[in-house]
Amino acid sequence: MDDFVQLLKKLSEARGPSGFEDEVREVVIKEMEPYVDEVVVDRWGNVIGVKKGASNYRAMVAAHIDEIGLIIDHIEKEGFLRFRPIGGWNEITLVGQRVWVRASDGRWIRGVIGSTPPHVTPSGKERDAPEIKDMFIDIGASSKEEAEKIGVVIGSIAVLDREFAVLNGKVVTGKAFDDRVGVAVMLYTLRQLRDLPVTLYAVATVQEEVGLRGAQIAAEKINPHYAIALDTTIAADVPGVGERLHITKIGKGPAIKVLDGGRGGLFIAHPGLRDHIVKLAREAGIPYQLEVLYGGTTDAMAIAFRREGIPAATISIPTRYVHSPVEVLNVEDAVNASRLLKIVLERTTPDIVDKFLDKKVK
Ligand code: CO
Ligand code: ZN
Repeated sequence: MDDFVQLLKKLSEARGPSGFEDEVREVVIKEMEPYVDEVVVDRWGNVIGVKKGASNYRAMVAAHIDEIGLIIDHIEKEGFLRFRPIGGWNEITLVGQRVWVRASDGRWIRGVIGSTPPHVTPSGKERDAPEIKDMFIDIGASSKEEAEKIGVVIGSIAVLDREFAVLNGKVVTGKAFDDRVGVAVMLYTLRQLRDLPVTLYAVATVQEEVGLRGAQIAAEKINPHYAIALDTTIAADVPGVGERLHITKIGKGPAIKVLDGGRGGLFIAHPGLRDHIVKLAREAGIPYQLEVLYGGTTDAMAIAFRREGIPAATISIPTRYVHSPVEVLNVEDAVNASRLLKIVLERTTPDIVDKFLDKKVK
């Protein structure tokens, strides 16, 4: 358990907004290398760890290494940085935060998202949450020239600055648990895996938050016989939210996805693969929750409809306050997700996989 917490802390604190995942990628490569036969970094930066199994059947596991961030689109003459969101932020979580801005040479510099003090806010407006387009980052520069000298350019990217912390027992908080907890589950599972019936491709994907990009090319390249995405899911088990909209609760086990998606279309997890995962969880006595989430999706959607169709499902880790700097989860759910993934990978033999694939009718 402590090993898992250490791994999650390291991944959570690493800075890796979509498209600029370098720092996380380095951690992943180091953690993967001892446990796989080969590590490949593809053209867009996905890290693919290959662990050979007893057959040429291929299983793909995907967890995304990018986190949502901010991108500088204008520098004010007074030195303040204007920005746009990369991924889905709720603006009320941004005001008053410390950020890291990536300078053009790759250095990270500190900044804060400033706000107008209540003292000078017109009365009646004190409670209005500003829109992202009206916010600004203060890096302590007093002019545009100074900001540029520090290394900020149009297109510089920023992430929130937040330390990992234990709240109580196994409940922890930090930034980017979406999806560093999925990455931690994948890496932690690699440490425990013994002999596999099929060859495993463990993929740390890039640019999930901007449209499931990395998973698409990885799935095309690997063309797996089945795939599992690891990601966070909504746990809205908090005051003011009705039971139906909790989706999942923290501490009640990993979730096995039935359906998710939203504006981009719904995603139905492959029923055969999903039922197989449920069966293995029950047999092993691993707690689990079934999940129907209207809104948001995972790499599984991007993988499932490549090539001739790839049976894909998602194991998710219930997380509160997703896409905020204070995400909260129960480490036990993540460790149970890893136990479940290990069993799925070790027990899904080619004859079981064949049942998910094309069937001859005549
Ligand atoms: Co997300
Ligand atoms: Zn995610």
